[in-house]
Amino acid sequence: MTISNRVKILAAAGVSGLVLGLAGMGGALAAGPGPETCTKCHEDEVASYAQSVHGQKGNARGAADAGQCSSCHGDATEHVKARGKAPMKNPGKKTMAAGESNGTCTACHKSDSNRSHWEGSTHQQRDVTCSSCHSVHAAKDRVLAKITQPEVCYSCHKQQRAEVNRPSRHPVQEGKVSCSDCHNVHGSVGPKLVKRDSTVDTCYQCHAEKRGPFVHNHSPVSEDCGNCHNPHGSIGESMLKIRMPMLCHSCHTPHGGQVVQLAGQGQTTAQLSATSSGKSGINYTQGRSCLNCHTQIHGGNNPNATNPPAQFMFR
Ligand code: HEC
Ligand code: HEC
Ligand code: HEC
Ligand code: HEC
Ligand code: HEC
Ligand code: HEC
Ligand code: HEC
Ligand code: HEC
Ligand code: HEC
Ligand code: HEC
Repeated sequence: MTISNRVKILAAAGVSGLVLGLAGMGGALAAGPGPETCTKCHEDEVASYAQSVHGQKGNARGAADAGQCSSCHGDATEHVKARGKAPMKNPGKKTMAAGESNGTCTACHKSDSNRSHWEGSTHQQRDVTCSSCHSVHAAKDRVLAKITQPEVCYSCHKQQRAEVNRPSRHPVQEGKVSCSDCHNVHGSVGPKLVKRDSTVDTCYQCHAEKRGPFVHNHSPVSEDCGNCHNPHGSIGESMLKIRMPMLCHSCHTPHGGQVVQLAGQGQTTAQLSATSSGKSGINYTQGRSCLNCHTQIHGGNNPNATNPPAQFMFR
């Protein structure tokens, strides 16, 4: 069958636009010429498209059954006629307004539950486009794989690259935890694009034991893990924002604010006892510092009402 015959047939069937794509059209309605026409000038893009989710046939919502290349690039009739000299819509180009670029994608992806908060999200408002992160034509879309994803983010988020490389951190470099384990970059109801409705709920996904319930809660824990931790990493241990005991001192003036003494500097035995009013200064600052005694810092389950007072984060 010649091209003109095919076009006549399709035109007779009520298909608008010049259809030049032949083999493998599978009866799809193409608003303009399809992949076969583009191959001789864009071999790579046609090949990557054919291998991608978008090029897969048989998905009722996919590009393959909705105009192929034209579903994202528009009608290429003039472009082909002018042998590439006429402009084409390219959602990856900086010159295209962010809203228009995103519109190309949301035409099909609007109703996805993962993107229901895209409108008004930080990235949408800051003119970050779908194609700033996604590579539709690459053999592998780097942002979808845990191990390669952070590099995509670091191109705009340099500070997080530094934080994730600190001594105490999540295993992000190893590909075990990724940015998208904690963030829904397409928008969320939580602060800072966290994946769940709040920071704590985001952390509980993997650290369920910190949720409790506890007999004695430590209120900053159930409020926001970020009160004490930098989830991206820290210089000190356990991803703590500030070292011990200064971390605790940022909210508490413990033990009557008494000046810490070193053991052996004139303290009585009573002062050295953990349950009496005075405590050995060495216990405050050495070893695990305040955690030498207040071990249950995320919440305690000691039912004891006295000696030592259970409410004070003791085991
Ligand atoms: C799902 C949407 C989508 C479909 C379908 C699609 N493209 Fe693209 N195309 C893009 C995006 C987005 C870019 C920008 C670069 C990127 O993100 O990979 C692009 C870029 C291009 C470019 C420019 C490459 C460059 O180096 O600047 C060409 C050429 C191209 N596409 C051709 C095609 C052809 C031919 C087809 C059909 C076989 C096709 N595209 C199908 C979305 C699409
Ligand atoms: C005869 C060669 C030829 C054919 C056939 C052709 N193109 Fe192109 N196309 C070009 C050239 C050359 C450019 C680069 C134009 C430029 O950089 O200004 C280009 C650029 C593009 C771009 C990028 C535009 C931009 O501004 O970044 C897209 C998208 C594109 N073509 C899509 C297609 C699609 C889809 C088809 C098939 C339906 C197709 N082209 C067929 C030669 C061709
Ligand atoms: C014609 C409809 C259509 C358009 C336009 C479209 N997509 Fe898709 N996209 C799909 C379908 C269908 C899937 C397969 C998954 C599904 O069924 O939900 C998909 C899958 C994806 C995936 C997941 C890929 C994977 O390997 O799991 C990404 C990422 C994606 N699209 C990004 C984009 C971006 C970015 C754009 C705009 C440049 C875009 N899409 C435009 C229909 C579309
Ligand atoms: C800031 C980077 C970024 C931007 C901007 C972005 N995405 Fe994504 N996208 C991701 C990451 C990371 C994943 C994988 C993890 C996930 O699902 O959250 C993903 C996954 C996807 C998937 C497949 C899995 C799923 O969630 O269904 C689709 C489809 C998709 N994005 C479409 C889009 C569309 C459409 C836009 C624009 C409206 C967009 N993305 C904007 C980073 C981004
Ligand atoms: C093209 C640039 C770009 C890329 C790529 C990008 N972002 Fe962003 N992101 C921004 C901008 C701009 C902001 C607004 C705040 C700012 O200036 O840092 C932002 C803000 C954020 C915020 C804070 C949201 C808030 O409400 O304050 C998070 C979290 C975030 N991005 C995560 C990611 C992750 C995860 C990735 C990779 C999957 C990513 N971003 C990729 C540009 C980008
Ligand atoms: C373990 C969970 C977790 C991981 C993994 C994670 N983040 Fe975050 N991120 C958070 C939380 C929680 C906040 C909010 C912190 C706050 O409120 O101070 C945040 C905040 C941000 C912000 C906003 C910072 C600001 O000060 O406004 C950006 C940008 C960001 N993250 C990017 C990333 C990138 C990029 C990655 C991957 C390299 C990543 N995050 C990995 C939990 C995480
Ligand atoms: C996707 C799962 C996941 C999520 C979500 C997650 N974490 Fe983690 N977290 C891990 C893994 C894995 C480790 C490393 C455990 C190990 O090395 O044994 C870890 C370790 C930690 C550590 C100990 C680090 C050290 O140096 O000992 C802290 C503190 C921590 N996470 C806090 C958080 C906070 C706060 C959040 C929420 C903002 C969070 N995590 C969300 C998986 C997760
Ligand atoms: C009041 C400060 C504070 C808050 C708030 C806090 N933590 Fe911690 N967290 C610590 C301290 C101190 C350590 C070190 C404990 C140790 O070495 O025994 C720690 C250690 C951890 C560890 C590693 C050791 C372990 O116990 O598994 C994880 C995981 C952790 N925190 C998760 C969380 C999560 C999740 C939240 C929020 C629900 C949270 N933390 C809130 C102070 C805090
Ligand atoms: C972000 C502020 C904050 C930080 C940091 C913090 N706490 Fe607390 N802590 C509180 C608040 C608020 C209470 C509840 C006080 C109340 O309800 O009377 C509390 C209660 C306690 C209690 C129970 C005593 C009481 O009066 O109920 C102990 C013990 C305690 N914290 C120890 C620590 C230790 C040890 C650290 C360091 C690892 C620490 N806290 C870090 C805010 C903080
Ligand atoms: C040697 C054990 C021990 C060490 C170390 C210790 N505490 Fe305590 N802490 C106690 C005991 C016992 C109580 C019960 C009330 C009391 O006897 O003062 C207590 C009570 C508290 C209280 C509640 C009463 C008050 O004074 O507000 C806070 C807050 C507190 N400690 C914080 C800290 C901080 C912060 C550090 C580290 C600088 C620390 N503790 C180190 C044993 C210790």
